[in-house]
Amino acid sequence: MIYLKTAEELLLMQEAATLVSRTLGEVAKWVAPGVTTAKLDTIAREFMTDNGGRPACLGYMGFPGTLCIEVNDTVVHGFPSDYALRDGDIVGIDTVVELNGFNGDSAYTFAVGDVDPKTMQLLRDTKEALYRGIEAAKEGARIGNVSNAVQTYAERRGYGVVREMCGHGIGRSMHEAPEVPNFGRRGIGPILKAGMCICIEPMINLGSKNVTIGADGWTCKTKDHKPSAHYEHTLAIMPGETRILTTFDYIKDALGDRFI
Ligand code: MF3
Ligand code: CO
Repeated sequence: MIYLKTAEELLLMQEAATLVSRTLGEVAKWVAPGVTTAKLDTIAREFMTDNGGRPACLGYMGFPGTLCIEVNDTVVHGFPSDYALRDGDIVGIDTVVELNGFNGDSAYTFAVGDVDPKTMQLLRDTKEALYRGIEAAKEGARIGNVSNAVQTYAERRGYGVVREMCGHGIGRSMHEAPEVPNFGRRGIGPILKAGMCICIEPMINLGSKNVTIGADGWTCKTKDHKPSAHYEHTLAIMPGETRILTTFDYIKDALGDRFI
């Protein structure tokens, strides 16, 4: 069942999305060599609760953190830990906040210090794949058009597109119908309608598309241990226009000329 949001509900969705964006902006100020991912997790949790939000990942199906931490070959759903970030790492940070009963979900992959040029290009290309998907997410189009836009952009550049995890609808629950895969054919899947809120979240690998899930049941890594990037926005489909509810502007403010 796909929930179409009313105008009032879309205002609440916007507030949740703004809070998750501000949270990532806060975390961005701290991303640097030597900082533990547990420290980033604490910053995010406190920022959310100080602003009236609930860290929606924390305790979700037993997930142990506010943030999903994705260092280098981790694709998604890594745990915060005492691992200290190192110069040359990339770290994806994915999180969800619930505010006034609605959820905002966003992810951003950061470069830590000096990152090798191929990996930097993976970050730029994965972010661009997200925006290509958003471009295709118009009222009246099908989910397959979004999926295909992401897949085509990434595969033309030789990257692996992760199959096992998808974007999703979002609202009172962090995961609602429909699924939003990052691969597929144009013209298939549900039709996008005004009032739908969806998350698009490409997970793109420098090497092959294959992934493994760790013994903890969560941590998803690339099989070949090459790096993987992940960016995510929450969107609202509106009559004749698609609104990106989350924003990377707070991250941009925090990173200054290190923003890519
Ligand atoms: N954006 C992630 C997703 O949609 C958020 C996961 S939170 C977790 O899968 F609790 F499931 F880890
Ligand atoms: Co998501």
